[in-house]
Amino acid sequence: MARSQIIGTGSYAPEKVLTNADLEKLVDTTDAWITERTGIRERRVAAPDEATSDMAVQAARRALEMAGVRPEELELIVVGTVSPDMPMPSCAALVQAKLGAKRAFAFDVAAACAGGLYALTVADQFLRTGQVKRALVIGAELFSRMVNWEDRNTCVLFGDGAGAMVLAPTEDEERGLLSSHLHTDGTLADILCIPGGGTRKSFSEEVLRDKLHTLHMNGREVFKFAVRALADSTHEALAANGLEPRDVTHVIAHQANLRILEAVLQRLELPLEKCWLNLREYGNTSAASLPMTLDEANRAGRLKEGDVVAMMAIGAGMTWGSAVMRW
Ligand code: UT7
Repeated sequence: MARSQIIGTGSYAPEKVLTNADLEKLVDTTDAWITERTGIRERRVAAPDEATSDMAVQAARRALEMAGVRPEELELIVVGTVSPDMPMPSCAALVQAKLGAKRAFAFDVAAACAGGLYALTVADQFLRTGQVKRALVIGAELFSRMVNWEDRNTCVLFGDGAGAMVLAPTEDEERGLLSSHLHTDGTLADILCIPGGGTRKSFSEEVLRDKLHTLHMNGREVFKFAVRALADSTHEALAANGLEPRDVTHVIAHQANLRILEAVLQRLELPLEKCWLNLREYGNTSAASLPMTLDEANRAGRLKEGDVVAMMAIGAGMTWGSAVMRW
């Protein structure tokens, strides 16, 4: 059975930079607190007329250009997002139209910050079975419109952006996405959620007053869970391919918190130098984070043919997982 290979990557971050110093003027926080507790120094914020699909399309065009694939050649578009332009249709449908990818069927995958990895895994299944030959996977998120800008516990963490990958099948036994291992624990839904604005608590004065349409998080619980879950799923993914942590050339991880990544890599006995970091510049861009990080590492010329790339991501749900790829 053919494996999926990533033949192009792209990313996009809005122009506007919001620094920790800017946040000091909005909430009771300091640059020192944010830097020490998270590793984040700044993040990007979308322009008022910019929506998630606009960012997704920018990232997609860059990935398609690198891959040398025309939009009309695409047969599948999967967008990982929980911040679509509107509840329906999907962000992916809007992206399909803007790209002019007429042949592609398109849908969103909602797995919060694990959305990039979930979307990649879903697209991979269609490639493995031979149902599609060219797929576009995107992670795009506009959390600046979903956080409560009065809540210092959350608003300092997130940023806007999009990342994209173009997938094609490869018969090369040595290369491609070897396997991915996804997990969900819905009993933890309440530690990271947007409680209002859906069908449980639809929009009302109460929802708006109590800001239930914004992101709520128990940071400490998410932190503890993330460290254990990411380390375990990465061990699982490596073992499934007969690999050890020492075989890993690069770690491409969801960028939530530098301390989370340090703790995970310590558990895996991997040096932090193997992990491409950009949370300092972008913060947590949710589903966009993993594909944006992959694109940066790729464009920096870091990824060489045959390198073992370990990917990991975690988000609300809780959803998480790890994948192993031979570049
Ligand atoms: O993709 C998954 C999405 N979410 C995450 O990855 C988040 C995971 N969690 C985290 O990254 C960390 O838990 C945080 C960065 C959110 C918080 O760091 P922490 O070391 O766990 O801090 P804490 O929640 O234990 O809070 C310590 C103190 C508290 O004050 P008291 O109760 O000790 O007086 C907070 O109120 O820090 C306070 N605090 C802040 N102070 C200044 C919380 N946010 C801020 C802030 N500025 N922005």
